Amino acid sequence: MRFFVGITGASGHAYTEALVRALVDSGMDVDLCATESGAKVLKHELGVVVDANGDFSTQTLVDWLGERAGTSVRSFAPAAIEAPAASGTSLTGGVLLCPCSMGTLARVAVGFSSNLVERAADVALKEGKRLIVVPREAPFSEIHLENMLKLTRLGAVILPASPGFYHRPESISDLVNHLVGKILDRAGVEHSIGKRWEGLDDPEGDEGIVRGVSG
Ligand SMILES: Cc1cc2nc3c(=O)[nH]c(=O)nc-3n(C[C@H](O)[C@H](O)[C@H](O)COP(=O)(O)O)c2cc1C
Repeated sequence: MRFFVGITGASGHAYTEALVRALVDSGMDVDLCATESGAKVLKHELGVVVDANGDFSTQTLVDWLGERAGTSVRSFAPAAIEAPAASGTSLTGGVLLCPCSMGTLARVAVGFSSNLVERAADVALKEGKRLIVVPREAPFSEIHLENMLKLTRLGAVILPASPGFYHRPESISDLVNHLVGKILDRAGVEHSIGKRWEGLDDPEGDEGIVRGVSG
């Protein structure tokens, strides 16, 4: 199954990186597209640089994601409105906006479709396909909240970049993986990332049971 991952100019590209790696490791194919602002923040946060036309070169993808990128990851410039994901006839498991800026959120909420990321989300909505939006902003204004409510009512899943702490993370990677595991769960992708909560050993005590997904 192929997923479209839209990378926007919100902070949180560590989530994108872990998400794409986990998708490929779970046997999924990925179409990647970064908005113009997404490319700037990607360079700032991860040091990953896109070409002049906004697309990723094969070498960049391999340097970033490893050999797994070679066969499973395709990338497109934001202006590539001829890409498969721009059509309702394309076969995708869904569109994942990770992270999603408030700008892209607003434009998707009104069907603006000014680039491939927004168009792919628009197509997912009109075709009744999975659209998972991972917004990153703090605090949210009433405009942001209204746009999220609107998209929820249209069938999208709003899955904010707000990882939990109850699994007792020991690293940034633990926090990132916690969120990515939740995205994969909602995307219907089997995975072995993050940890699952299995309740309290002793409800009166302070010891929780948290197990690795594969364990
Ligand atoms: C370093 C950096 C971090 C940013 N973080 C956020 C953020 O977390 N959320 C957000 O909505 N916008 C953020 N922005 C602003 C967006 O990039 C900006 O609104 C942009 O126009 C969004 O464009 P896009 O939706 O086409 O990607 C950030 C910008 C920069 C330079």
